[in-house]
Amino acid sequence: MTFKLRKLSHGLGAEVCDIDVTAPMSESAFGEIHRAFLDYGVLLFRNQNITREQHLAFSRRFGELDRHDAFPSDRHPTIPELMLVTNEPQPDGTPSVSRYTGRRWHTDMSHTLEPSLGSLLRCWKIPGVGGDTLFANTAMAYDALSPGMQKLIAHLHGIHFSGGRKLDSTAADQAHVAEQKKISPPVAHPVVRVHPETGRKAIYLGEKVKRFDGMTEDESKPLIEYLNCHSTKPEFVYRHQWRENDIVMWDNRCTLHMALGDFDQNERRHMERTTVVGTPSGYVVASA
Ligand code: OGA
Ligand code: MN
Repeated sequence: MTFKLRKLSHGLGAEVCDIDVTAPMSESAFGEIHRAFLDYGVLLFRNQNITREQHLAFSRRFGELDRHDAFPSDRHPTIPELMLVTNEPQPDGTPSVSRYTGRRWHTDMSHTLEPSLGSLLRCWKIPGVGGDTLFANTAMAYDALSPGMQKLIAHLHGIHFSGGRKLDSTAADQAHVAEQKKISPPVAHPVVRVHPETGRKAIYLGEKVKRFDGMTEDESKPLIEYLNCHSTKPEFVYRHQWRENDIVMWDNRCTLHMALGDFDQNERRHMERTTVVGTPSGYVVASA
């Protein structure tokens, strides 16, 4: 083992210690990182004071990067492979549309037919206190279900809706929500998703899912809420307290995450994300 790993919590996560992600890395060294990514679901790289190009280059080792066509207004103005998660106002002074990104349990790009393999979020600016991110291990959560419940959900599909981001009632915010809904029609994915690399089963839901295919919202809600609540129990969770120049990478196929809004909104929180494209999954639900 070339790198030292330090476990971050019982549920998931490991810090990759003493690494410079910009240094040349052999295939076998990268293979170890990739293995750790599959084993731990979340990897933390601290003290990576790197450029945007270096962030992209390291991310590309894991696969093709999403150009975020599903989130046109969240992109970096000149680098489409970078998605902003920021409360820094836009150049014209209007609030950033990404200021509330990720405030519910979710997994990235699950409202598309090519849900993400993994995301690499780099911290540029963090408030004095608060603004942590929670991660949950949904494969461990699946394993903890009873055989009866595993059987019950085995063939269900959850419908993931876009445009569910919490925003304000201003005209600009509402126009953004409407735009998102237009870009991404609802997409159904198996509730029990088999991880394409590890073969492990995981609960693939989150708060973008409003109902199961073939069932009403009223019928679906209790079970969706139960499974989301179960998946995010403390024993399956890691809470990341950010430092500047952290890069946290997570596996979108077997984890959920959520940004906490417990900080002074007058302070700046600025993150930038690359999104590695995953394997095709699911189908569009025309009449959702
Ligand atoms: C994301 C996201 C959480 C955060 O970038 O995909 O959900 O804490 N961010 O900023
Ligand atoms: Mn996210």
